[in-house]
Amino acid sequence: MFVKRIAVAVAILAASMPLLAQADGDPAQGRRSAETCLGCHGIENYKNVYPTYPVPKLCGQNAQYIIDALRAYTVGDRSHGTMHAQAATLSETDIKDMAAFFADPTYCNGGK
Ligand code: HEC
Repeated sequence: MFVKRIAVAVAILAASMPLLAQADGDPAQGRRSAETCLGCHGIENYKNVYPTYPVPKLCGQNAQYIIDALRAYTVGDRSHGTMHAQAATLSETDIKDMAAFFADPTYCNGGK
């Protein structure tokens, strides 16, 4: 009896996971907002021409990591001219939507 209850609890928890994961940001809106970002971040092994630096891959990255990185660029805790300029224009909603987009490989990996 007890075991059965745990199984039901686990099933309910598992079923609600995808909803929880998306509760913060809207990946479909994030994809639209990330149009400019993909000019740099959407290309495999992309390097800026000048100055030459590698552009990190964002697709599949942890959503919270992306949110933290963008906030750090915005306030200058993490310094990088290009990314500061990019991040400074974003609203909190933009940041969460784009984090949800980049964190979900079915969206950012050339998907819908
Ligand atoms: C002109 C090219 C370019 C554009 C456009 C651009 N980025 Fe970046 N981005 C970079 C480079 C280069 C880095 C690595 C900077 C560093 O070393 O800190 C970076 C780093 C990042 C990181 C940290 C990744 C990590 O692994 O630590 C995030 C998150 C990020 N960008 C998000 C965005 C978003 C969101 C946009 C669109 C609003 C965007 N970027 C637009 C070039 C770009």
